[in-house]
Amino acid sequence: MRYLTFALGKGRLANQTLELFEKIGITCEEMKDKKSRKLIFVNEELKLKFFLAKGPDVPTYVEYGAADIGIVGRDTILEEERNVYEVLDLGYGKCKMCICGPKEASGLLKHHELIRVATKYPNIAKDYFYNTKHQTVEIIKLNGSIELAPIVGLSEVICDIVETGSTLRENGLAVLEEVCSLSARMIVNPVSMRMESDRIKELINRLRTVI
Ligand code: PRP
Repeated sequence: MRYLTFALGKGRLANQTLELFEKIGITCEEMKDKKSRKLIFVNEELKLKFFLAKGPDVPTYVEYGAADIGIVGRDTILEEERNVYEVLDLGYGKCKMCICGPKEASGLLKHHELIRVATKYPNIAKDYFYNTKHQTVEIIKLNGSIELAPIVGLSEVICDIVETGSTLRENGLAVLEEVCSLSARMIVNPVSMRMESDRIKELINRLRTVI
């Protein structure tokens, strides 16, 4: 039996993913050691390998088959536009992709003004404004702390993730429009899905019973 390899997005989602896998008897003790600098972890008994990667790189590893399976947020899957199968909503990491800004900016959206949109997700923003809203905008790519952009005058609005809404509230911003709902998803390499279909389908079915 060959190894099935999992790429897990680092950070918030990774711990919840490990907890979920434990519920169906898949454990990887080594991976819980926060001090470890090891990059790849093996469960010899079940013939599984796990590695942690930056979220946006997970769909890349899965598309090229370096990982058979990936666990990552739907935001990343939509943004990266990789050739992978999305097979399961894992139900955690729930949040929304929204257009946010000061309340006064809602008129600019309503009247389809040519505005600037700051975001970590240029493809999602482009798709929303051009294909759903039919509004021409200028998209400015940032790498974090997106809420700063409308405060310092870089853009009129942002396209960003809202979970509790506290970052917006504490900075005098609000949700102006909702783009889509997000949560953690399982993605699979198309070739792996064919070659290892029994093992992967069994895994999906077992996960479904605990989600
Ligand atoms: C995310 C997102 C928002 C915040 C939303 O940022 O970009 O800034 O969380 O969460 P809330 O609605 O619960 O306040 P993250 O913490 O991932 O860091 P970043 O600013 O570097 O993107």
